[in-house]
Amino acid sequence: ERIRHNMIYPGNYHFILDDTELCRSIHPYLVLIVPVAPGNWKARDAIRRTWGNETHIQGELIQTVFLLGVPNSGNIKVLQRNVRTENRLYHDLIQSDFIDSYHNLTIKTMVIMDWLASRCPMVPYAMKIDSDMFLNVENLVSMLKTPGTPTTIYITGRLKNESPVVREKDSQWYVSEDSYREKEFPTYAVGMGYIFSLDMPRRLVEISKRVTPFYVEDAYIGVCMKTLGIDFTPPPERNHFRLYMFEFNRCQLAKSICAILKTPAQLVSYWTLLKGPGPAC
Ligand SMILES: *[C@@H]1O[C@H](CO)[C@@H](O)[C@H](O)[C@H]1NC(C)=O
Ligand SMILES: *[C@@H]1O[C@H](CO)[C@@H](O)[C@H](O)[C@H]1NC(C)=O
Repeated sequence: ERIRHNMIYPGNYHFILDDTELCRSIHPYLVLIVPVAPGNWKARDAIRRTWGNETHIQGELIQTVFLLGVPNSGNIKVLQRNVRTENRLYHDLIQSDFIDSYHNLTIKTMVIMDWLASRCPMVPYAMKIDSDMFLNVENLVSMLKTPGTPTTIYITGRLKNESPVVREKDSQWYVSEDSYREKEFPTYAVGMGYIFSLDMPRRLVEISKRVTPFYVEDAYIGVCMKTLGIDFTPPPERNHFRLYMFEFNRCQLAKSICAILKTPAQLVSYWTLLKGPGPAC
């Protein structure tokens, strides 16, 4: 259950698909990077049709890319062929050669950090955002452009304080005492979506060499931050980062930055409703 220490170090993995123009010839203000399973093309499709297609906001360029590992179940050959075909169409898939699985999400996050640090160091901001999320890009850009928002040493999101470490072995959030000894995690940003300045990925990749890995990726980033001695920045409004929204609420979506949804179809439907006519909030 304990991940071998070098296993999360992203330098141990290789990109097998990485032909996006992002940060080679395109230099955005904000990169949205989405960890997603190779077979989950439905989520990618919904994102491309909704917030992933919001590329010009308040005079700034926004770009969305997806980060995948390699499949280890199902028809692997077919899945891989489909991933390549999809990428030939959109050139927005980045694939690394670690095995894509729930228990490898910490590896995925560190590979995301490694990709950003090596490919996009000059970009001001990035957001790691899960594939089941609604995102209000306009509100996100407004928050980033608010005077006083830090331009370096900055991570924000829905912060969780004093979260107890789960010691029940059958829980999906189980962390052994070998991996993390304290009873509570330090403050961290809930993994559904957090935003950071582009100096952070390099710092996190470096410090991860000294922080014992465990599976809960967002709490792991919290432990890395504590080890770095850097505090998370609270968002202007905690409610801008909503956990769940399983019924359409126009005014909440209009005022939020992000919210967790259930299905790709729900994302497309909420998006269409929100962009359509309706009362001002
Ligand atoms: C993205 O938006 C453009 C311009 O509004 C539109 O023409 C295009 O069809 C959209 N792409 C997708 C995948 O929905
Ligand atoms: C995580 O990825 C590594 C590298 O590909 C692999 O060796 C390991 O089996 C994976 N672990 C799980 C739980 O999938």
